[in-house]
Amino acid sequence: MEYILEAKGITKTFPGVVALDNVNFNLKKGEVHALLGENGAGKSTLIKIISGVYKADKGTILYMGKTVSFNSPTEAMKAGIATIHQELNLFEDLTVAENIAVGNVESFLLSKRKLINITDKLLKNLNFNIHANSTVRNLNTSEKQLVSIAKALFLNSNVIIMDEPTATITEHEAKILFNIINDLKKKGISIIFISHRLEEVFEIADRVTVLRDGKFVGTTDVGHTSEQELISMMVGRKISEMYPKYNVPKKKEIFSVHDLNVGRIVKNVSFSLKEGEIFGIAGLVGSGKSEIALGIYGYIPSKWKQLKVGDKVISKIKSPDQALQEGIAMVPEDRKTMGLVLELDVMKNITLQNVKEVEKGGIINWKKADDIAREEIGKYSIKVSSVKQKVKTLSGGNQQKAVLAKVLRRVPKVVFMVEPTRGIDVGAKVDVYKIVNNLANNGIGVVFISSELPEIVRLCDRVLVMHRGRPMGILEGNEITQENILKLATGVDVE
Ligand SMILES: Nc1ncnc2c1ncn2[C@@H]1O[C@H](COP(=O)(O)OP(=O)(O)OP(=O)(O)O)[C@@H](O)[C@H]1O
Ligand SMILES: [Mg+2]
Repeated sequence: MEYILEAKGITKTFPGVVALDNVNFNLKKGEVHALLGENGAGKSTLIKIISGVYKADKGTILYMGKTVSFNSPTEAMKAGIATIHQELNLFEDLTVAENIAVGNVESFLLSKRKLINITDKLLKNLNFNIHANSTVRNLNTSEKQLVSIAKALFLNSNVIIMDEPTATITEHEAKILFNIINDLKKKGISIIFISHRLEEVFEIADRVTVLRDGKFVGTTDVGHTSEQELISMMVGRKISEMYPKYNVPKKKEIFSVHDLNVGRIVKNVSFSLKEGEIFGIAGLVGSGKSEIALGIYGYIPSKWKQLKVGDKVISKIKSPDQALQEGIAMVPEDRKTMGLVLELDVMKNITLQNVKEVEKGGIINWKKADDIAREEIGKYSIKVSSVKQKVKTLSGGNQQKAVLAKVLRRVPKVVFMVEPTRGIDVGAKVDVYKIVNNLANNGIGVVFISSELPEIVRLCDRVLVMHRGRPMGILEGNEITQENILKLATGVDVE
């Protein structure tokens, strides 16, 4: 038996879209096999078919030499295939230990205390800084991701599928995960690994399979390919300019804040930006960089000495709605809870925040809403089967584009973008960078908050670096290098 798992000729159609078209994929024992492709290419759909979430329309899956067709993820799990899904599905009101135990029959026979002890040990062994008896609701996104990973590792699986496990965790945690993956490999466990970060594929994977528009493009050894080759396999063209940059003349000051304090984290932050300026905020996870946006926007209690939009002094922002009225927009980090209403369709999501545009005397003009949604879908190349598709069934990256479309529809004076390219493929990243530059070109001030240093370095005019809630300095022009940012971000002074 050459392969532990083999998918042959898999086809899957959803209303209006062929998500997978005759796709082949195979997995060797003890290998890490990366699955790559643009947003909406069909990666998550393929692994959902393998793990029993969906049934394929056509094709077969062989597992340990036998044809299988799992009726549910639990069945797949029992057979030894565990999946860490892109959309985390944990029980928010249960504890970490209970979540890890769900689906594992033997663990139900344990007493509560014993379960907590075992889980605590597992988490410690994994070097995850989480308590087994914490309620999942109280964890942040990155901690929840770690719980999902621990859950998959708790089961004695032959195959572990990881759908973008590193999208929401810190670089440090990713390193821990990669060590774990290497250990699993040594034990002969096979891993399917999905990520939009090519450098991770080169670091961790043995082979790589690329999908494009639901079609199989190819499988190759990681040692025999290059980043450029993988990109052109994914997007079907060469990307010549990753970071487009216009030169916008900076004129009037459009935004300033003095002595901002947010929650218990952010202390004494001051900065200002001019029309057309792209102002970066960098820092490690936990440095307080996203809290700056959340604080200004009124999501977290905050105080400031003075905040100005243009010439107008604003003493307090009580709600996101008020922020919008003052001309401050935000693209939030957590698109699922703050950005989108998952159960509603794409059209409603895009027009919701801009309801005045489509409403007259309490009556919604659906024709107009439809036109606006189509316009935005075209502008951001959002991959949808129709404007009526529920956003929760959009691929991860396309959900992110829907947030951008929704937020930027109401032209702001200044926009805070928090991790705007998270989970977005290489091609779509270039689109986002173009959008950011276009905003600047139109005189909007952009505060670009990101954990990805390359994009901060290439896009921003100035960069504020945060460390443990404190501003460490603002870099400008040639000073903006990854090295200088890291020095400040880790608390090492630049002379
Ligand atoms: N439940 C569903 N109902 C309708 N369409 C769906 C559903 N699930 C996925 N799709 C569509 O199938 C296509 C493939 O989506 P999939 O989630 O597999 O992409 P992906 O490669 O994982 O993308 P990403 O990198 O953005 O996560 C997309 O066009 C998506 O809109
Ligand atoms: Mg996906």
